[in-house]
Amino acid sequence: MPQAYPSTALRCPCIPTLILGRIERGTYSPSNSPLVKESLTPAKEAMEAGLIRCVGVSNFSVEQIQQARDLVDIVSVQNQYNPWYRQPELDGVLEYCEQEKLTFLPWSPLGGSRRVSRLQDIPEIAKLAQEKGVSVYSIVLARLRAKSPTIVPIPGATKTTSIEDSVRSLEVTLSQAEVSQIDKAS
Ligand SMILES: NC(=O)c1ccc[n+]([C@@H]2O[C@H](COP(=O)([O-])OP(=O)(O)OC[C@H]3O[C@@H](n4cnc5c(N)ncnc54)[C@H](OP(=O)(O)O)[C@@H]3O)[C@@H](O)[C@H]2O)c1
Repeated sequence: MPQAYPSTALRCPCIPTLILGRIERGTYSPSNSPLVKESLTPAKEAMEAGLIRCVGVSNFSVEQIQQARDLVDIVSVQNQYNPWYRQPELDGVLEYCEQEKLTFLPWSPLGGSRRVSRLQDIPEIAKLAQEKGVSVYSIVLARLRAKSPTIVPIPGATKTTSIEDSVRSLEVTLSQAEVSQIDKAS
């Protein structure tokens, strides 16, 4: 793994056994700690049995992450984060992950297969892509990495060309001014 990634999860040689506790959006309420417990007890047991080494959670609020950490060591949080959905910047999850050194894995980082083709219609992203001679996808992935060292984007792909392009995006660096430019537009 590239050293630029500070992720505990990704340094750990156990990606195939990473268990993601997931709570469907819409079911959360402040009193649902039994749901967090129920969701993560199998992971805790698997960890105690030595079957897995890392546990991550997905679609968790800060409160749920805290409840999860009371039960088991958590290394990563996977929530939706893309130009059309910037909730992690507002709900405290990104900030909490930074403070607590948890890896934040933005799911659908390019907006998902239904929206990805619309990235080129965001003028600031298209302009930066043209200036730097890279794809709009590379700009979006670079924006995520520039946002926080705790972010490790996980773009999905069915085509080899998409994977190659996403790997090339690691060479793209954005200044904070360029990131702000994109943020104002999305
Ligand atoms: N935890 C959750 O609740 C949750 C929910 C949804 C998704 N996820 C996870 O999030 C990850 C990614 O999400 P996603 O696949 O929905 O969305 P995404 O990565 O935002 O978008 C995937 C789409 O972008 C295209 N793409 C990716 N990289 C590209 C590139 N460099 N150049 C051109 N096109 C590119 C892909 O095209 P091609 O297919 O044509 O290559 C595909 O159509 C997956 O691992 C998924 O399992 C998690």
